[in-house]
This record gives sequence, C-alpha cells and structure tokens, in this order.
Amino acid sequence: MSNKQTRLPRPVETERTPLKARKVSFSWEDTPLHWVPGDPFATHTINVLHLLLPAGERWFVHVYKQVLPHIRDDRLREDVIGFIGQEAMHSQAHDEVLPHLKELGLDPTPYTAQVDWLFEKLLGDRTLPPGKARKWWLMERVAIIAAIEHYTAFLGNWVLNAQELDRRGADPTMLDLLRWHGAEEVEHRSVAFELFMHVDGSYRRRARTWATAFTALVFLWQRGARFFMENDPTLAAGRASFKDFYVSGKRGVLPSTPDMLKSIPRYLSRGYHPSQEGSTEQAVAYLASSPAATAASAAEKGTV
Ligand SMILES: [Fe+2]
Ligand SMILES: [Fe+2]
Repeated sequence: MSNKQTRLPRPVETERTPLKARKVSFSWEDTPLHWVPGDPFATHTINVLHLLLPAGERWFVHVYKQVLPHIRDDRLREDVIGFIGQEAMHSQAHDEVLPHLKELGLDPTPYTAQVDWLFEKLLGDRTLPPGKARKWWLMERVAIIAAIEHYTAFLGNWVLNAQELDRRGADPTMLDLLRWHGAEEVEHRSVAFELFMHVDGSYRRRARTWATAFTALVFLWQRGARFFMENDPTLAAGRASFKDFYVSGKRGVLPSTPDMLKSIPRYLSRGYHPSQEGSTEQAVAYLASSPAATAASAAEKGTV
C-alpha cells in the first residue's frame, strides 16, 4: 500500500456528500429519434453514451468490487461503495434506452457487441496468477477508471450547463437522464481519483493510463457517432466528422473542442484534484429538482 496520499492536493470543497444511488426510471415512448430537434449529428454524438456506458460502468463496478479489500480507509470505502451503487444504476438506465433506439430503426447491437468484448475480455480479469501480475493489472484498471472519471465529470458539468440544448427544445426525458447522470458524476467526481491515490498514486501510471483512456475514448466516440449516422434510417448519407464536432461545440450543443483540450493538462498537473472541476452545489441542486430523481426519492419514502 502506498503512502503517497500524503501528497494528495487538498480538495477544494471540504463538505462531503454521502453518495447514494437514486433508483430512477424513464419512459422513452415519446422520445423522438432526433431528440435534439433537427440535429441528428448532436443527437447521435451524445447517443454514443448509451453504447459505451452500459458495459463501461458495469466494468467499473466489477473492478471496484475487487479493489475493496485493498482500501484501508473507512470513509473512502464508504465512498467507493456509494460510487458502485451509482454506476450500476447509470449502466442500467443507459441500457434501457437501447430497445427504444431499436424500435426507431437503429439497432445498436453490432456496436455494443464490440464494446462488450472490449470491457469484458480485453479489460477483463485475464488469467493471471495471484500475486504481482494480478495486482499490477488491478492497479492499471483502477488508474484507467480515474482517467475516465475525469471525462465523465467534465461531461456531467457540461450537460448541467448546456442551456443551448434547452433552447433547441431537446427532449425533456433525455435531458433529465443526461443531467441526472451528469449530476451524479459531478457529485462523485473525486472518488475514483482518491481511490487511485490511496492504492497506488504513481504519477507515471496516472499519465500512462490517461493516454490509454483518452485515445480509446476518442476512437470509440468517433466510431460510435459514425455508426449511428450511417445506420440512421432517416438519413440518406449520414456522416460524422471532426469538423461537425468542432462546429457543434461552438454552437453549444456539444462540448467545445478548446474546453476539452484545456482539460488535458489539468488532469496531468501534479496539483490536480477532481474537486477543482464542476460544482457539487449545482449537481445537488439539479438532483433536488430532476423529475426522475425526485420520483425515485418519493417512491423510496413511500409517498407515491
Ligand atoms: Fe456514471
Ligand atoms: Fe462516475
């Protein structure tokens, strides 16, 4: 176990939010294929989340269950357990969008089969003997998750503030799914990084796994957007390019490319701490007003 957490930069916010999974559910029957009206490219670029997150977040949960015995801090263990509950719910909620896309003529299975292979086989447990090799692979995956969570927090913060989507009349159910998820990503944004610093914390590993995670995310995302655009039954010659992404970012319907580039040196800075990104206050305020989260909380209290 490393003692490198003594070098961990102090979080910006000292208030700690106990993490709990909100058992949300969404009805998709009224959500149109192009839920950002008139903008299939922005719709499908965001839809890539539904392709990657079910398998990706299931994999987070799988890895974190293995790391629990390595945690020597009760508060962090509690946070990791809360994180596991939230990610399991996120995975399920995005998975439930896929049958609706299929009904609208967009069968995601050819793509999700590849994503499942990536997370279950390539990033799976592998047949490693107990000991050093197995521990190395576990730490590598914990570091990859910390890097991915830098981007889920970035995206969560973006979608909470993406008022252009409201102005364009984006589907309220999809917006609530994205903002409920985004708010919980902001809420638990420090957990993966603090866990990595607690069990390993090596800067070389942080930088190396950031490069792996970033490259994989860019590759999977552009491929997923192209997959949706090419298979959209309403588009004669649907295409997706980096220029479209850049332009949509400038218009505010997708994250901006300069903002994404600026987030890279932040993660690689030795003074980085995820609490410097986004606002817990804003995330908690959204969760207090989210239709799905408030319905889940009322159901839990037995008031509906
Ligand atoms: Fe998530
Ligand atoms: Fe997360």
